[in-house]
Amino acid sequence: MGVTIVGAQLGDEGKGKITDIYSEEADVVARFQGGNNAGHTVVVDDEEFKLHHVPSGAVRGKPAVIGNGCVVDPEVLLGELDGLRERGVDVEFYISERAHVIMPYHRVIDGIEEDAKGDMAAGTTGRGIGPTYEDKVGRRGVRVLDLLKPDALREKLEYVVPTKKALVEEVFDVDVEEAGYAEAFDVDSVHESYLEHGRRLEDGVVDVSELLNRHLDEGDSVLFEGAQGTSLDIDHGIYPYLTSSNTTVGGACTGTGVGATRMRETVGIMKAYLSRVGTGPLPTELENDIGDHLVEVGEEYGTTTGRRRRVGWLDLPMVRHAATLNDFTGAVITSIDVLDGLDPVKVCEAYSLDGGRLERMPADMDDWSRCEPIYREFQGWSDVDWSNVESYEDIPDPAREYLEYIEDEVDAEFYAVSVGPEREQTIIREDPFEQP
Ligand code: IMP
Repeated sequence: MGVTIVGAQLGDEGKGKITDIYSEEADVVARFQGGNNAGHTVVVDDEEFKLHHVPSGAVRGKPAVIGNGCVVDPEVLLGELDGLRERGVDVEFYISERAHVIMPYHRVIDGIEEDAKGDMAAGTTGRGIGPTYEDKVGRRGVRVLDLLKPDALREKLEYVVPTKKALVEEVFDVDVEEAGYAEAFDVDSVHESYLEHGRRLEDGVVDVSELLNRHLDEGDSVLFEGAQGTSLDIDHGIYPYLTSSNTTVGGACTGTGVGATRMRETVGIMKAYLSRVGTGPLPTELENDIGDHLVEVGEEYGTTTGRRRRVGWLDLPMVRHAATLNDFTGAVITSIDVLDGLDPVKVCEAYSLDGGRLERMPADMDDWSRCEPIYREFQGWSDVDWSNVESYEDIPDPAREYLEYIEDEVDAEFYAVSVGPEREQTIIREDPFEQP
């Protein structure tokens, strides 16, 4: 069976820890979208692993698969694989021949375009994600299989690289030599180094659809590991302040070549409040001492960029939107412990806009920026010894009241409640792999 994990907000919901827990039960773990804009920290026997590309199941000894819907930076990917192997992790790794490759010029253009965009900038991670997906859709991208074909790769680079150079120099008015980007636009050097990456990746290059469907045919379970979050989805999110892939459950089908009927469970991961890296409106944002509390207690600094995250109260119109789009069969809520000491605890239950009430996020960011949160207040809780909270019944009553209200609103049962950063601090109530 297939279990898909999807972020219900703006990324950083705590998917890494939940993926790690579910990885132990899965036979295979596959990523289906995004690239090294994601960041997961996995702790195994006191050893910390920071991963951006490799699916976190790899550290649990599970076959780790990168699907065709992902974009890959081979240097980062190979660095992570080497790092894992040096630390004694025996990684069984596969990558789709159809996945698109982040090239050096994509990273350069990501940075230059962000600077030029002004208010339209999304605050990207600067990893070249958007420009790589642009080339994919523009049918001029380099795929993993091209790294294994010297002549085909050269032919592609000879067309693409000069057009990118012209874009940088003539549209953005940046001299690539002066700016120190010459190597990224040197066909010979890019060709040579990317063929070398191809040689190093070659053994793991497969038809991912065939691989995963074979596992499913044999009765194995596959965990589809989503990255980022629903509101960063290119189609359904906060356009243009979002990422360039489909982070929602449909992305798991198109991003791996597995049919929708095989995705039995879709688990939405949400944080008990909201965090955001990047720009754009954020109606429930807290730029005060409550915000400072959430940042400090929740350690809200980006895994990939180290940026301080913006934080706010839980935004239900956003989470409801995610529940509808993904049709969550279950959900997981994380960081409930971070709200400890705040009183009252608030939830945005709807927005007020132009005298009306909105239950769902609007598509228009001008509208979203004018939305006023309508808050529901809950009695707070404090001085909880979360290290001793081992069952759902141990959670203090006011926190349970908060959780049950959210469950009702998103119409999905909490399969698990995370009450602290450690893997053990997770109360498991239902197992998605055991659902009928
Ligand atoms: P990109 O994916 O690097 O193009 O960034 C586009 C937007 O998505 C920016 O606002 C980023 O901050 C945000 N973003 C990308 N990846 C993540 C993630 O893993 N967690 C949270 N935000 C992300």
